[in-house]
Amino acid sequence: MNRDSHLILLCLLLSLACNRRPGQATNASSKTAALMGIPGSATHIRQVTGPIDDDRLVHAGDRQQDWLTYGLNYAEDRYSPLTQINKDNIRTLGLAWSLDLGTQRGLEATALVADGIMFLTGPWSMVYAIDTRKGSVIWKYDPQVPRSYGEKTCCDVVNRGAALFKGRVYVGTLDGRLIALDASTGIPVWSVMTVDTTKPYSITGAPRIVQGKVIIGNGGAEYGVRGYITAYDALSGKQVWRFYTVPGDPAKPFESKAMKDAARTWTGEWWKYGGGGTAWDAMAYDPALNLLYVGTGNGSPWDRNYRSPGGGDNLYLSSILAINPENGQLVWYYQTTPGESWDFTATQPIILADLILKGQKRKILMQAPKNGFFYVLDRTNGAFISADPYVYVNWAKGVDQTSGRPLENRSARYTKENSDVAPDYDGGHNWHPMAYNPRTGLVYIPARENIATYGHDPNWIYNKRGGGVGNGWNVSIGFDSSVPTRRDTLASRKDPRGMLIAWDPVQRKEIWRVDQKNNWNGGVLATASDLVFQGTADGFFVAYDAKNGAVVWQVSVGGGVIAPPVTYMVDGRQYVSLVAGWGGGVGMKFKSAPLQPGRVYTFTLGGTKEFPEFNKSIVTSIPEIPFSATNEEITHGRELFRSYCSTCHVIAHGGGGLAPDLAFASPTTHRNFLAIVRDGAYLPFGMPRFGNRLSERETLDIQKFILSSAKRARYQSK
Ligand code: HEC
Repeated sequence: MNRDSHLILLCLLLSLACNRRPGQATNASSKTAALMGIPGSATHIRQVTGPIDDDRLVHAGDRQQDWLTYGLNYAEDRYSPLTQINKDNIRTLGLAWSLDLGTQRGLEATALVADGIMFLTGPWSMVYAIDTRKGSVIWKYDPQVPRSYGEKTCCDVVNRGAALFKGRVYVGTLDGRLIALDASTGIPVWSVMTVDTTKPYSITGAPRIVQGKVIIGNGGAEYGVRGYITAYDALSGKQVWRFYTVPGDPAKPFESKAMKDAARTWTGEWWKYGGGGTAWDAMAYDPALNLLYVGTGNGSPWDRNYRSPGGGDNLYLSSILAINPENGQLVWYYQTTPGESWDFTATQPIILADLILKGQKRKILMQAPKNGFFYVLDRTNGAFISADPYVYVNWAKGVDQTSGRPLENRSARYTKENSDVAPDYDGGHNWHPMAYNPRTGLVYIPARENIATYGHDPNWIYNKRGGGVGNGWNVSIGFDSSVPTRRDTLASRKDPRGMLIAWDPVQRKEIWRVDQKNNWNGGVLATASDLVFQGTADGFFVAYDAKNGAVVWQVSVGGGVIAPPVTYMVDGRQYVSLVAGWGGGVGMKFKSAPLQPGRVYTFTLGGTKEFPEFNKSIVTSIPEIPFSATNEEITHGRELFRSYCSTCHVIAHGGGGLAPDLAFASPTTHRNFLAIVRDGAYLPFGMPRFGNRLSERETLDIQKFILSSAKRARYQSK
């Protein structure tokens, strides 16, 4: 027996202890299966994922079996050539298997599938290798992200996906590490810290592999950081280059010519606040042009008056950057929202396509960023082609066709008044992937509409630590009651709405839309049989006719979905997999289906597997807990709840996927309230410790507010 098999035997005997070792892959029994050479086991993975090299990635789209990279291919169009499932037979699409991932927090990841093995990421940057033939976990890797990190992330402890290359799985962790795992065992090969750990950086996005390098960005612009992306050698983990997206302190040497140029568009002392521009999601790559496209995020803080008081475009916030992947040099940029002040990120998915425009074949890229305009650019040189509103927009009248700059409505800048702005900070479209079908010529956008009131917060002070003031956000947005508020007359739009939009980028208009119950719906998958698949926030998995939006198939998956479905082929059968588990922070603010454990559902033609029991509601009744409180205490508690707790919790608002609805907290929880909230009793589960920010009295006021809201909800439900 070799050392490994000793370890495996030991793990079998003490499987619990092995499973809980920090930073280790788990599931001893599947390792044993691997040793025994059972098909679909770990050994099998080594054989089949070995050949994922540059060439296979360049042709990822044409290799029909697999889903090898985040957006399916380098163009990130999420258009699968598979046609076994089509409009004629979709009636027989049924469940092949479902797998409970044992988590209730939100799942946003795109599953990767190579030769029948699925690689999925989950909350706290966990990685799962799943045998798609059986629907069972082969190994699971927990990078042991400190649970206190939960308060440094704007929008839940999510992860959107992994990358595969030469027998390895790459994942960026919430606390800023980039880890290469052995695909066959889930054991780390190397790990590098990609961020300055004294700053509130986080990683939720998927790494991409380009020319043997792993490219990774980061997030944290709500807390005060400076954005960048870094390329590491995929095999050794050695840093190859880093590209900052906004300039640092001009008293120090600039890292690149791009930074020197960018610094001219900033004023004041922005670098003290980080500046922002974090690249936390979108990338695409054109191997022929040798250009890597990266979308950058919002300003940090949001209000330009604080960040750059003399004005300026503040490059390269909210921009699409074309970077030479060999050396990390900027080749061109296009800024969607100059002088960004609304959290209008351009980190939304980027899709590359070739379109015939005015009789000419053009290499273009497309994006539907948060600011509500659908952009088409020439991806060879960044030239502006078109931008049109795909949802209701009031911050700009349009985009100037010659300069490519937005025609802003001055009041949207909330300098002298508070202002109702559309879209809101969650965007006309967020990270939820869109898809492009070249047969229909349509882009399918999981869109949303809402209005938010923005105001200059006269009392804002920069908080270096992040996670210290209120919910820790450093966004500097407030509501100044001493100045007037400009209201949008379409007040009805304030109710957030969600819709799936089929957009024609050539005719520059919407072709069809499906209005949805909720506004935080799942990412989209398009297939060559002209189907569009999407999971919804209210718990359905739906297939639409790509030509007209007619529903051709749907099933209930019990709970809300935000992750995009994927499709792949194993042993001659086409499968569609969907990860259900709603969350992502903002999602919680709205009504949804009941909370369900995170699950992978996999469908195939003729699938007959029974659905698992759905959890009908979290707790059926709100407990009756006696308390006494004055109105002042309750009002004070409400204010504190809004700034400290509401990013994660709701009260009497139904399900979701982030943190418990506090109306349902038990008498025991309320007896331990101070220990949970101030002393960090639930820190290991991701509930922050507030002892350094909230006094005992303040905490008790929050509790009184929770109890009074719960009581009201109890009466209403009677
Ligand atoms: C970063 C997200 C986050 C924030 C902010 C947050 N919580 Fe939590 N909280 C959680 C999570 C996650 C749990 C669930 C832990 C578990 O799995 O049991 C939790 C659990 C709780 C519980 C126990 C609920 C139960 O029924 O077991 C209470 C009470 C609570 N939080 C109160 C608060 C209060 C009060 C605030 C604001 C001062 C707050 N939380 C802010 C994430 C958060």
